[in-house]
Amino acid sequence: MWPYPKIVAHRGGGTLAPENTVAGLRAGLAYGFRAVEFDVMLSRDGIGMVVHDPELGRTVAGQGSVAQTDAAALAALDAGSWFSPEFRGEPVPFYTQFIDYCKAQRIWMNVEIKPADGFEAATGAWVAKITRDNYAAELAAGDPAGYPLLSSFSFAALAAARDSAPEVPRGYLLDTIPADWQQQAKALDAVAIHTNHKHLTPALAAQIKEGGYGLFCYTVNDPARGREILSWGVDGFCTDRIDLIGPSFDI
Ligand code: G3P
Ligand code: MG
Repeated sequence: MWPYPKIVAHRGGGTLAPENTVAGLRAGLAYGFRAVEFDVMLSRDGIGMVVHDPELGRTVAGQGSVAQTDAAALAALDAGSWFSPEFRGEPVPFYTQFIDYCKAQRIWMNVEIKPADGFEAATGAWVAKITRDNYAAELAAGDPAGYPLLSSFSFAALAAARDSAPEVPRGYLLDTIPADWQQQAKALDAVAIHTNHKHLTPALAAQIKEGGYGLFCYTVNDPARGREILSWGVDGFCTDRIDLIGPSFDI
């Protein structure tokens, strides 16, 4: 039900490097992580870029929005200086750059489809198609740990991903678990539920596991809390504190 790594570095390298950058992936590797979560959003010209916020300004120096900026222009912006001067000029990565890096380093990817408002279906379809095209051999080989898991808070994005490339697996991101979670997960043909650990209970965890789904949590930065939710049957979680919670972390 969870053929993937248990501990996953959040937004690339958690809080050890600027989020959603190749420098983050490098930081993860330095701590032994070969499993990563990151966010993908479409540029104005319809290219998937690794970035979290729809608006520029917090982590990416610039003004305006990702959806109103072309990919080449986004790639030229500084996504590192906000974190520290040492990372000045660290670019906004293309999703395909993350694919290339992660394939070369054998890093497993949980790709969060993060659509800007109004681009839910387009983003889901694009990410699923590009993922399928780049992992055709791995998908054919049939070992799920050898290819990415997509996830999204957007039902519409996941539905479009399912229609575009059904063979690329999907996890449904839910901040709180609604009563009809299983109906929604079934409609998306999802393999896993990804949820905020803060709202999870042992009863809900048991219900999801009994339903036959993988159960993944975000974002756990306290080792004691990590042990607690693993004891409830949670299969894995992502963390910002890759320095405190290592890839072999266990109960
Ligand atoms: O995929 C889990 C987690 O990343 C969801 O929240 O805002 O960090 O993308 P966020
Ligand atoms: Mg995310």
